[in-house]
Amino acid sequence: FMKRRKTWNRYPPGPLSIPFLGNMLQVDFRQPHISFSQLSKKYGNVFSLQFCWKNTVVLNGFKVLKEALVVKSEDFADRPPFPLFKHLGVNKNCEGVVLARYGRGWREQRRFSVSTMRNFGLGKKSLEERIIEEAGFLCSVFESKGGQPFDVHGDISSAVSNVICSLVFGNRFEYDDKRFLRLLHLFDESMKELSGFLVQLLNAIPSLICIPGIIKGLFDCHDEIVKNLKEIVAEHKASWDPAYQRDFIDAYLEEIEKTKGDPETSFTELNLIFTTLDLFGAGTETSSTTLRWALLFMILHPDIQSKVHEEIDRVIGRDRRPVLDDQAHLHFTNAVIHEFQRYGNIVPITLPRMTYRDTEIQGFFIPKGTSVLYNLYSVLKDETLWEKPHQFYPEHFLSPEGKFVKRDAFIPFSAGRRMCLGEPLARLELFLFFTTLMQHFTFHVPENQPRPREDACFTQTLSPLPYQICAKPR
Ligand code: HEM
Repeated sequence: FMKRRKTWNRYPPGPLSIPFLGNMLQVDFRQPHISFSQLSKKYGNVFSLQFCWKNTVVLNGFKVLKEALVVKSEDFADRPPFPLFKHLGVNKNCEGVVLARYGRGWREQRRFSVSTMRNFGLGKKSLEERIIEEAGFLCSVFESKGGQPFDVHGDISSAVSNVICSLVFGNRFEYDDKRFLRLLHLFDESMKELSGFLVQLLNAIPSLICIPGIIKGLFDCHDEIVKNLKEIVAEHKASWDPAYQRDFIDAYLEEIEKTKGDPETSFTELNLIFTTLDLFGAGTETSSTTLRWALLFMILHPDIQSKVHEEIDRVIGRDRRPVLDDQAHLHFTNAVIHEFQRYGNIVPITLPRMTYRDTEIQGFFIPKGTSVLYNLYSVLKDETLWEKPHQFYPEHFLSPEGKFVKRDAFIPFSAGRRMCLGEPLARLELFLFFTTLMQHFTFHVPENQPRPREDACFTQTLSPLPYQICAKPR
């Protein structure tokens, strides 16, 4: 590889790598986005690294990301292969959406997921009403804490996950339902399984997979989720009425029937499980982590919280539940929502991409098949674009007259072909859950407890450290 890199003209510069490990020791994997931003100061916004034998290019800064994500969207639309996933049944045209290679299978699953979410209410009143109802349940649970300190994590995950459950399974669950809690726990654990060191190592050096017993037990949680989802699909099939689609699973089963004669189809029962897993995995943790940041920032900034209260009281009042149409009149609240997404920055680095063909960025040559990482942190905290990048400052999204303003550099959902397909759903959830909670409660740090820290913990997303909160009904 070193030899090949040397023969590529205009390949992006990068730090010297050592044999076998490459640049692994130069990156702090507990906060890779910070390491990348520091390296970009030395090597520029387009620089290269080597992870073991894998050539990787890291892109930083709004101008560079815009060129790669939007202008050359297709050149960067592939995802690198993960050899270990073959052992989970993942193969060509049966890879779900998130990690699917760029091609027919990905296109079909993505289009189908987007259009089916729309058919089941996204962009219509029905899904909005479902979220408003769920936000009401969440408020009741918070109220039942009686003003005592608690950790919001579990309840927020249940509420957010219930929105996806309604779309995919056609029903919601009580927050103490054992099967539901087990599934949520398994989703959490399987994320950790997939990001674990051994999984990364086996993907980097697939020949190690041949060592007897090395992958035994590695995917226990994943296997248990698949078993559970297979049971749910079997229940759907048993009660299936083709004349009436209840949910995503029914729609998918219908698609399997329609495409049966096509040997290349990506609509299979196993891919139904993978795509469902993706919607849960990508859709629950992200929105619920963002809401946990939101409440943390509210207790750390009581002055900002009071302004949100004041605006909600003025525009909506205390009796009527917030609806999406209110957003246009809630300038400050909307700015706060954008700011907790920017400042919380839950996805600092996008999922790995791979170049689909030889390409160029800012005059640098990047050959086909190179892994590419987008440093979203470098845009959302860019010191030349934001007035106070390292502070929680809703004014980033307000005009001098106090009106909400969009900012081009606000790209927490990424951009281009592989951008987040759940963005409209996530935005709806964040707005409705946040405004409903703020309408009902004043949040504060529990008495005699230290002020929670703003530090983040990086697994696959940046999440706040566990904290306790008191919710006082208003
Ligand atoms: C991908 C952010 C919520 C489904 C992504 C990506 C980001 C992201 C940065 C990577 C895009 C890339 O590679 O360039 C977020 C944030 C969310 C959120 C910040 C919430 C605040 C959701 C929800 C869903 C979802 C609610 C599902 C309903 C997906 C899927 C992909 C994805 C399926 C993969 C898209 C593809 O590869 O074609 N998201 N997301 N996300 N997201 Fe989200």
